[in-house]
Amino acid sequence: MLNEYDCWMQKVKIKTNYEIPNIVYSDAKSLVAKQAEKEYCLGIERLLGFSPKIVKKHNNIKNIVLLNSSYASSVKDEFTIKVTENQIHITGSGENGLLYGVFRFLSLLALGKIKNGLELTESPVSPLRMINHWDNFDGSIERGYAGRSIFYKDGDFDYDKTRIEDYARLLASVGINRVSINNVNVRANAKLLIIEEYLKEAKELAAIFRKFGIKLFFSINFGAPWSLGKLPTADPLDPAVAEWWKKRAALIYKYIPDLAGFLVKADSEGEPGPFQYNRTHTDGANILAKALEPFGGEVIWRCFVYNCTQDWRDTKTDRARAAFDHFMPLDGKFDKNVILQIKFGPYDFQVREPVAPLFGALKNTRHVMELQITQEYTGHQIDLCYLPYIWEDIMNFDTIHGENSKIKELLGKKNIEGFAAVVNVGLDNNWTGHTLAQANLYGYGRIAWNPAITAKEIAEEWSVLSFTNPEVPQKVQEILLRSYPAYEKYNAPFGVCFMVSPSNHYGPGIEGYEFSRWGTYHRADKDAIGIDRTPSGTGYTAQYSPKNAAMYADANTCPENIILFFHRLRYDFIMKNGETLLQNIYNIHFEGYDEVLSMIEDWKSLKPLLENQVYESVLARFERQLVNAREWKDQINTYFYRKTGITDNKGRQIYS
Ligand code: GCU
Repeated sequence: MLNEYDCWMQKVKIKTNYEIPNIVYSDAKSLVAKQAEKEYCLGIERLLGFSPKIVKKHNNIKNIVLLNSSYASSVKDEFTIKVTENQIHITGSGENGLLYGVFRFLSLLALGKIKNGLELTESPVSPLRMINHWDNFDGSIERGYAGRSIFYKDGDFDYDKTRIEDYARLLASVGINRVSINNVNVRANAKLLIIEEYLKEAKELAAIFRKFGIKLFFSINFGAPWSLGKLPTADPLDPAVAEWWKKRAALIYKYIPDLAGFLVKADSEGEPGPFQYNRTHTDGANILAKALEPFGGEVIWRCFVYNCTQDWRDTKTDRARAAFDHFMPLDGKFDKNVILQIKFGPYDFQVREPVAPLFGALKNTRHVMELQITQEYTGHQIDLCYLPYIWEDIMNFDTIHGENSKIKELLGKKNIEGFAAVVNVGLDNNWTGHTLAQANLYGYGRIAWNPAITAKEIAEEWSVLSFTNPEVPQKVQEILLRSYPAYEKYNAPFGVCFMVSPSNHYGPGIEGYEFSRWGTYHRADKDAIGIDRTPSGTGYTAQYSPKNAAMYADANTCPENIILFFHRLRYDFIMKNGETLLQNIYNIHFEGYDEVLSMIEDWKSLKPLLENQVYESVLARFERQLVNAREWKDQINTYFYRKTGITDNKGRQIYS
């Protein structure tokens, strides 16, 4: 890696056996196609050090690159790359297709894969490949770990145009096509971003992203007709409220005619919503959908709706059930331009959760899966945690054990339209705080484009594109692939979740959520731990399709990495390796800590091969990770030792 800021688009002279022609014919007339042409030239300059010459006629030129944005295909955003002895053809089934084709060509070039005879046709599996910013207008970022917002400062837009363009380029290079630019928690500021003062500014931002085929979403406040419009109510069934949203939409689309739409967090963690007026979420979403429909806009409506004021004494209410209980009965009742956004698991981006049962169950409602690239519960971009590892698992979840019923097979079909993910970037020079966390942003784009890609393939691509010294990528890949299992091992054990420090969510807080209102309990006592979610408990398992329901309901068939999510087990429960649950808890915590030690050794071995700045900044984070891993290990093990009085059978140190 020469320059952390450039991420996976490093400026480096690569060697190639195939001579790339320096004349380029381009048919570009539209905005994005022209950008594709420009990106091609920038990329060649970056990788080969020469500026291609653009021509508008190509008769009789033998050695040439042809960029074409209008080949006939019914597949949206498709591209083909064809390399012959003298010519390279990059064609798109539209301007965005061409842009994606150019970026793929450039990364293949950097990966050393461009050769005579190469032929490739690709299109995205998921139509919606979205980034969610949780950026606040004061410049802070909710759950942001890489500096301040790249968009806002002190209650206003404040950004560096070049930086935003560089960001849009990075996103488009991995196929992202939608970005929501403000926090889903709009909180008291219902004006965001829907008054003229802000729209004038947002218009400029939209123009930068537009060149890269990216459309914007705004997070809006459901209560705006009341708080901003001064109507007596925001009741979605009140005609005056409907009218207010229609007029507001007309104003917004005057400034940004291609706004993708609204993203809405309603009736969730204090945000207003239709429940306040005894209305349903269909009432709420559809009223907005009707306002946006004339302009081609869409409403993305989040399913993160649960009771966040639960009494910990109440053992009947199960937060895990909430999204399904609320939204399954509404299947098929949403307007055509409503898309539900469902967190991948029933809780909240925990290190290990089962896949939410709405996936595979919803039949007649468009929906997308929400992931978290920002490392809220996965180490704050201090600890290394390579997320494609877990995303691959999620993609392989078989929703109904039918034909092609894995998440990765359902995507793009059956109303699962893609992904939204909370992003991990900020104003830090390397964008993501931890330099290796760039792999998570890259990996998200690649999985959103093609959910069948593996974590290993992503690590291979990313490390070669990012680290210019050829001796580095192999070791970096190994470190990345070990990092998620290591983090999971020293964290809350076996899917029990939320043993995390309250509020900031970094480091252990074993009983941090135990007596709180958030509905996330493990209820450990001296004999047992976990929640019984089988039909004899909260009944959550029954939300799954029959085969999954049966598998999860039986402790002998439930996958062990998630067993405490579904079962309340005694500490002497015997696990598959013949050891007790308690002993396994001890074991994995020692292992997780040792893994961090060993990753650090591996990183240190790269010192002579890396730029000092990259080496030192990653090492400094690893050192903090080791402290964190030690706290997790010692606090968790000590906690269970104190509860049970049972020592580690290998005699390792546990504190009494
Ligand atoms: C989590 C997170 C919040 C966030 C919320 C959401 O609860 O801690 O900061 O607002 O998710 O997804 O809306």
